Amino acid sequence: MKILLDTARIEVIDEMMTYFPIAGFTTNPSILAKESSHVGTTLTELRRLAAGGKMVHIQVTADTAGGMLEQAKQLNDFFGGDFYAKIPMNIQGLKAISLCKAEGINCTVTAIFTPMQALTASMAGADFVAPYVDRLDNITSDGVNVVKEIVNLFNRHEVKTQVLAASFKNMQQVYDVASTGTHAVTVSGELCKKFLFHPYTDKSLEDFKSDWAEKFGNHEITDLLSL
Ligand code: G3P
Repeated sequence: MKILLDTARIEVIDEMMTYFPIAGFTTNPSILAKESSHVGTTLTELRRLAAGGKMVHIQVTADTAGGMLEQAKQLNDFFGGDFYAKIPMNIQGLKAISLCKAEGINCTVTAIFTPMQALTASMAGADFVAPYVDRLDNITSDGVNVVKEIVNLFNRHEVKTQVLAASFKNMQQVYDVASTGTHAVTVSGELCKKFLFHPYTDKSLEDFKSDWAEKFGNHEITDLLSL
């Protein structure tokens, strides 16, 4: 499973990429509006961060299929590499997927709330679909189960479209979605850090340290190698 960061905050991406096996990052218009008053600068920084072969998923803002295609082309030229135009799940978006694919532009179809939307996007040629787990949970529609149904449908139909599950608010959602066999998740940096945490892990590591120090003081293990 690939982990992506759902943010446009450059310092968060920078820090997380130092430590975590981050496959790329995703943004949407709300994220960009919240994080940045200079979107051009932010997009240039995102391009710099993606340069090592990371996936970048950036959403178009046009309302028509033609407008989406034009923006997708420009963004694709700007980012190069492993770029994905995020296309909204609506009738214009559906047409835009085919137009983009005809131009060789990767597409991620976003704001997916039902398996049928996902299957339709897949038939139109989407590379990824992004179901919104927490937003589904908030309307008592069971986000994890929707992701599971999409993964099962894609497996059953042997389509190449991948599932990039999005909109997470807690680790249980991420874990349950991971168990469905989703291909990728996109999460905040804060949530990603929580993947590592367990108090007994911390305690075990502290115990190793104090047992070692009691016996060997400040020596490191490599100081004690006898050649
Ligand atoms: O990128 C889209 C998706 O992640 C939205 O997430 O947290 O606004 O529901 P959220």
